[in-house]
Amino acid sequence: MLSLVRPARTLGRRGAAFAAVIATCALPASEARQTPQAQDVGHQHFSAKGCAGCHPQHYRQWRGSLHALAHFEPIYDAYFIKASQQSNKALEPFCGRCHTPIGVRTKQIPFARPLRKLGDTQVKPVAREGVQCDFCHTITGHTAVQNSGFVFSPSTIKRGPLADARPVSHQAKHDPAFRRAELCGTCHQVVHPTNNIPLETTYAEWKRSPYAKAGIVCQDCHMTAGLQAAASGPIGKPTRHPGQAATTGKQRPHVSRHFFVGPNLVFANRPEAAELKRLSEALLRRAGRVVIDELTRTPGKGLQLVIQVRNTGAGHYLPTGVTEIRQLWLEIKVTDARGRVLLHSGALDKKGNIKPGAVIYRTEVHDAAGRDTTLFWNTVKKASDRRIPPLGALLEYIPLPRAARGKLTVEAALHYRSVSPAGLAEAGLPPNTVTIPIFTIHRTKRTISAP
Ligand code: HEC
Ligand code: HEC
Ligand code: HEC
Ligand code: HEC
Ligand code: HEC
Repeated sequence: MLSLVRPARTLGRRGAAFAAVIATCALPASEARQTPQAQDVGHQHFSAKGCAGCHPQHYRQWRGSLHALAHFEPIYDAYFIKASQQSNKALEPFCGRCHTPIGVRTKQIPFARPLRKLGDTQVKPVAREGVQCDFCHTITGHTAVQNSGFVFSPSTIKRGPLADARPVSHQAKHDPAFRRAELCGTCHQVVHPTNNIPLETTYAEWKRSPYAKAGIVCQDCHMTAGLQAAASGPIGKPTRHPGQAATTGKQRPHVSRHFFVGPNLVFANRPEAAELKRLSEALLRRAGRVVIDELTRTPGKGLQLVIQVRNTGAGHYLPTGVTEIRQLWLEIKVTDARGRVLLHSGALDKKGNIKPGAVIYRTEVHDAAGRDTTLFWNTVKKASDRRIPPLGALLEYIPLPRAARGKLTVEAALHYRSVSPAGLAEAGLPPNTVTIPIFTIHRTKRTISAP
């Protein structure tokens, strides 16, 4: 097995052979017609464009995905530059190994020059493709299920879930790892590189979830149209998508989808993300529910509104991932019979930040100065972590003002956004570089009488 740090070589003999086959060659007429030119840029890694001719669906879906943007989208770019500056470049390979594994392997990262502004992080085209086809399909194993513990060995052998694929233009190898969560967990589990504080724990959250016990993996939710509603019990079966794995391939009962659908809607208005946007919104709508439970009056505490927030669709905590940056929050509005607003929490201020006092589900980490920060590599302490467990619920007790009596109308909504304006400012992203949409996962309304 090759290790990650092995220096890049130019095309080996097998690689050269693959390039030649892809470029010219003795393929069945049907396969040859669709073969694009070799896309390798002097290293042994192939561009996603080189797979597009025979795997057009996979390419089209992946191209809109966050994996395709992982190295150069502006939010990552801003945080990456900040991390590079604050660590005097030391963090560049750490971040890069997950966001552009090929960029690090080919030694384009660490960058030779200091990074100052967005776009300074330009790498050659193949590395710019971020988490791309040829990288994933040449993963041969892993040393740890965290911090980019994958092992990838560029070669003409493309590994995958199919047991009987016999392509002519490249070799194929059946590898059951492609149906397992660990393949994803090598990147979707991040611990701090020096103090080992867990920062992103999606894999570990899944591993302890009822989904893991039921055999439902990341791929079943993120590489399909989602789980079908179950006839009994809360966990459904993954959607199957019959089709072809390649233009010349046979009809198969299931071919995965490469949208890697997730909640990120920041880049959803690009034409290549049109279908992804629809899927992302559907995923979010399935993710959570708000239930207005009751009004209770307890001695000493007065009147309280009880709201339940449920994680109905995420195979890990809601939210997950970079939860130092993400925001999921409750907006609650209570009005009395005369239309007077008695309470409104979770509203935004003029700058678009959530006003103090709201219920927010996120991880709060502190830096050495004790500040709540989104610059997660500066974490010295996890100050709090309050999120909703898979298939679980959290109860919120919201105190109401003394004036609350009679019939009250309660409105509650659960909102999600990828990052707050304050977070963008902390990362140093120039204003108006991106617009961050707010998506309402669920909204509900109820009239209840105060006891
Ligand atoms: C993040 C890793 C990753 C990336 C990037 C990726 N794939 Fe895959 N691919 C997978 C996994 C995992 C499966 C198996 C999914 C399953 O069976 O549930 C798969 C399956 C496949 C298959 C087998 C047929 C099927 O079920 O879909 C083909 C062909 C394929 N990928 C081609 C591509 C191409 C072409 C690209 C780039 C345009 C690409 N992949 C990008 C992880 C990846
Ligand atoms: C000239 C056409 C052609 C090109 C170019 C091509 N493939 Fe394939 N690939 C195929 C065919 C045909 C199959 C088999 C499909 C089947 O059996 O259903 C296949 C199968 C696969 C599989 C499934 C392997 C398994 O056992 O599960 C993967 C993964 C894959 N290709 C990845 C890639 C990647 C990555 C690239 C780009 C670097 C690429 N392919 C370029 C034709 C091609
Ligand atoms: C090489 C590391 C790597 C591997 C392996 C990997 N991912 Fe990712 N994934 C990333 C990075 C980096 C991002 C974030 C990109 C960004 O937002 O800039 C991401 C983002 C995502 C997202 C979020 C999309 C959104 O809309 O918010 C999903 C879902 C996802 N990956 C699923 C998967 C699944 C499923 C697998 C396994 C089949 C997998 N990933 C394997 C690195 C990886
Ligand atoms: C039961 C379906 C299901 C399973 C299983 C599942 N997810 Fe998710 N995932 C979701 C839903 C729904 C969301 C959107 C809500 C959220 O952000 O938690 C999501 C969101 C995400 C996000 C985006 C977080 C953010 O806010 O940017 C990532 C990354 C992700 N999942 C990766 C994974 C990985 C990796 C696995 C396996 C270890 C996995 N998921 C297993 C359903 C699932
Ligand atoms: C072990 C793999 C790994 C490492 C190391 C890593 N990341 Fe990530 N990063 C991810 C994954 C996976 C996601 C997607 C999670 C999600 O969607 O919430 C992500 C998401 C992000 C995002 C959110 C992007 C968006 O569009 O909202 C930023 C910003 C980010 N990473 C910055 C960094 C920086 C800076 C470093 C280095 C200090 C770093 N990452 C190191 C795997 C990694």
